[in-house]
Amino acid sequence: MSSGYLVKDVLKDISQTLSPIIERASREAQLLLMHHLNVDELWLLMNQNSHVKDAHKLFEWVERRAKNEPLEYITQKVSFYSEEFYIAQGALIPRPETELLIDEVIKNVTDKNARMTFVEVGVGSGIISIMLAKTFVNAKIIAVDISQAAIDIAKINIEKFNLGDRIELRLGSLLEPINEHIDYLVSNPPYIANNAALESNLSYEPQNALFGGDIGDEIIKELLDEVLSRNINFFSCEIGYDQKDKIQNYLNKKSFEKLEFYKDFSDFDRGFTLRL
Ligand SMILES: C[S@@+](CC[C@H](N)C(=O)[O-])C[C@H]1O[C@@H](n2cnc3c(N)ncnc32)[C@H](O)[C@@H]1O
Repeated sequence: MSSGYLVKDVLKDISQTLSPIIERASREAQLLLMHHLNVDELWLLMNQNSHVKDAHKLFEWVERRAKNEPLEYITQKVSFYSEEFYIAQGALIPRPETELLIDEVIKNVTDKNARMTFVEVGVGSGIISIMLAKTFVNAKIIAVDISQAAIDIAKINIEKFNLGDRIELRLGSLLEPINEHIDYLVSNPPYIANNAALESNLSYEPQNALFGGDIGDEIIKELLDEVLSRNINFFSCEIGYDQKDKIQNYLNKKSFEKLEFYKDFSDFDRGFTLRL
């Protein structure tokens, strides 16, 4: 690619390359170019005849996108709950429906100044723990993940938001690294069945962030056992759209105060809060 390329021509070329493969190709062309030039949408509109330097670098990204690599891994940026986070392969790309899990916790803990201990299992990029720390200003958060790559990415985000003194990262499985008393357990665990056929873009995401066992709900059930045996007051958890009945059956005959499910934007069951 020549370095004398104009903005308007670059946008047209990227759109043409991507349109057979992805929806919203012209929007993604804008996003890639904005990221490359470090400019906003208004600048792009006003500078259609400006030259684009180092376009070869941009077209390497376009090639990656044409192979269905998620845009977020290419730009290393993702927005969640109106904040911008760093993201890279090694951590799951945060999904919009996970914002509802944060809302669920906010609904259950009305005192924003409460001095309580949250534990998150499966911290990934850190989005849940960070939003909880920002919301509950006196809370301590311990965030666990089985993947060192995820912990490294979460650490970058925790530093970005200056929350290193409030969120402690621990490498390990489920609640194995936690001996402290837990007031509130939160998790968006892997919950897809191991043999489920998935769209090709999901192959870029860490497999241990997606697959939860042969049935899919094994990790959720292990967490439920922990909650019951450790007497954890609250547990809010994201689930697959078809897992509500299985969870209800699992908790049948167990002793607790309340089990409430919530739905996502498409009206699918997407999570629950268990209160002991
Ligand atoms: C669905 S991702 C959620 C990431 C992030 N919390 C979010 O909502 O975007 C699940 C995370 O759980 C982690 N994980 C999988 N098995 C685990 C286990 N046994 N113990 C702790 N973390 C686990 C994965 O590495 C992954 O980061």
